[in-house]
Amino acid sequence: MQHRTIRSTTVSAIGLGGMPMSIEGRPEPERSVAAIHAALDAGVTLIDTADAYHLDSSDVGHNELLIAEALATYGGDVSGVLVATKGGHTRPGGGAWDIDGSPEHLKAACDDSLKRLGVEAIGLYQHHRPDPDVPYAETIGALGELLDDGKIRMAGISNADPGQIREAQTILGGRLASVQNQFSPAFRSSKPELDLCAEMGVAFLPWSPLGGISDAAELGSRHAAVAEVAADRGVSPQQVTLAWLLALSPVVIPIPGASRPETARDSAAAADLGLTPDEVARLSAA
Ligand SMILES: NC(=O)c1ccc[n+]([C@@H]2O[C@H](COP(=O)([O-])OP(=O)(O)OC[C@H]3O[C@@H](n4cnc5c(N)ncnc54)[C@H](OP(=O)(O)O)[C@@H]3O)[C@@H](O)[C@H]2O)c1
Repeated sequence: MQHRTIRSTTVSAIGLGGMPMSIEGRPEPERSVAAIHAALDAGVTLIDTADAYHLDSSDVGHNELLIAEALATYGGDVSGVLVATKGGHTRPGGGAWDIDGSPEHLKAACDDSLKRLGVEAIGLYQHHRPDPDVPYAETIGALGELLDDGKIRMAGISNADPGQIREAQTILGGRLASVQNQFSPAFRSSKPELDLCAEMGVAFLPWSPLGGISDAAELGSRHAAVAEVAADRGVSPQQVTLAWLLALSPVVIPIPGASRPETARDSAAAADLGLTPDEVARLSAA
């Protein structure tokens, strides 16, 4: 397994996203735990979650609890695993994703995530999505306080534009560790944010790197270049896509979601695929 860094923390070049294990359409928890264990077996040491990966207000933090359980029941050493969670969204039910960027909410959410994950400090805490009703500086100020208080070891942001990335970096005094934005073959409009992260040396975690839960299976049929390279190499279109993302910049660390051991294993193998410059150019041009 190839590795990358988030500030000075080394993680696997491919992470694991926990959202499909806990939102609408989720499987039985046993299958999700098996998927997490398969990812760990494959050398994955970055797991992305959020307090909002659940169905409604009766099971807030479903995914954080699942990950805590999977780490506790894993037979091997998990001391090097970085769990990256998020706060700032709420899910009252009925499929809604509400936003609360108030400092009070973020601090309380962080305390709750600490309890669910069963840790003294969260390895990477990311603000989930800017709240148009709260000045960004106030929300990120709270993130900075969580760092200062030692409740989180690293701070990240998500769904941020270049101006917000620069603002967060300034407010955090140069301590911004990561940016998590949507990026995939079908959705490339976060390229300016990716390029800015590369320039600033901030990790860029593409979310829905395979096109999202409902479209991930269609990668090969929707993107001819992905299908061609996959056929040439004898690997899945999903693996080719993740290897292409890795080739875009050393700051990129994809976090493909999975809820099955097979998919978690297949995605993890993308870290070692190594595309040629010609293959990368074909995929980037498509
Ligand atoms: N910050 C944000 O606002 C935000 C928003 C969305 C997502 N995220 C994060 O980003 C992560 C990834 O995004 P996502 O889960 O929405 O979408 P995704 O990673 O593009 O796709 C996930 C789906 O891909 C399938 N899959 C994974 N690896 C595969 C493989 N090698 N071959 C075939 N199928 C494969 C999985 O199927 P199975 O379920 O059958 O395994 C899963 O349901 C999330 O889990 C979450 O942690 C963050």
